[in-house]
Amino acid sequence: GRVAVVMGGTSAERAVSLDSGRNVLEALRARGVDAHGIDGIPALLDAVRAGHFARVFNILHGQHGGGEDGVLQGALDSLHVPYTGSGVLGAALSMDKIRSKWIWQALALPTPAFVPLRKGSDAHAALRKLGLPVIVKPACEGSSVGVSRVLAESDLDAAAALAAHYPGDLMVEQMVEGAEYTVAVLDDHTLPSIRIVPKGQFYDYHAKYVAADTQYLCPGLQGDDETALGALALDAFRALGCSGWGRVDVMRTASGEFQLLEVNTAPGMTSHSLVPKAAAAAGMDFETLCWRILETSLD
Ligand code: DAL
Ligand code: MG
Repeated sequence: GRVAVVMGGTSAERAVSLDSGRNVLEALRARGVDAHGIDGIPALLDAVRAGHFARVFNILHGQHGGGEDGVLQGALDSLHVPYTGSGVLGAALSMDKIRSKWIWQALALPTPAFVPLRKGSDAHAALRKLGLPVIVKPACEGSSVGVSRVLAESDLDAAAALAAHYPGDLMVEQMVEGAEYTVAVLDDHTLPSIRIVPKGQFYDYHAKYVAADTQYLCPGLQGDDETALGALALDAFRALGCSGWGRVDVMRTASGEFQLLEVNTAPGMTSHSLVPKAAAAAGMDFETLCWRILETSLD
């Protein structure tokens, strides 16, 4: 049947999603799938209710109309239309970094120490628990939108004010000095990890989508270390109730300990994005990757 590739939407990651969506649409069509692009949740639900689509490839990113936070998943469940990736619970929990981390802490899965923060509350108290440096971020955004590194207490208020521009709570998280990794999950298996080496200070929006000098090493680790990272990523993914496909972001301290940062349930599929790089390292071209993700909607 016809497949809707839903992209764009109204989140802060709209532009990234449109880029991801165009790539997915082109790849599925090249594979002979009768795929059509739809912009945003309202247009998608109208088309689905009118019976135009048999299934949905969800490549919306972000919350609040972003389609990565459980809202779209619930609407499609109620219409009995299958879709790619995680269901309501996994999407909603993964979109909220505070609640993701609480669950990992309860299961003794490693994640950096942090303090959740309501908008307008005093961020300085968090430093008494965490020390410096810290990362300040909106709890429910992606692509590093609204994220700041805070090395000196005098920068804290500006960082909190920036993060407060986005919907939801904020968090102050201990900054892990070390290397950044990501692990893609596809159909209950991990792909080879990627080590991300940004040219600047951290892997921010510019380093993610604009810079040509961000380096990607894949696989990021070898032997037992790579196996341990993959196992941790899969545990973290399952702990949040995720399924289908996604991507788990992890730091590794200088002493070699892993620390979970977050799960993305509709990760980017742009030409700069990570899941396509991990698939390529596993010998899977972009078209095959899109086909395999589409198959996650079959269950
Ligand atoms: N949130 C962006 C799209 C990603 O994780 O790739
Ligand atoms: Mg994210």
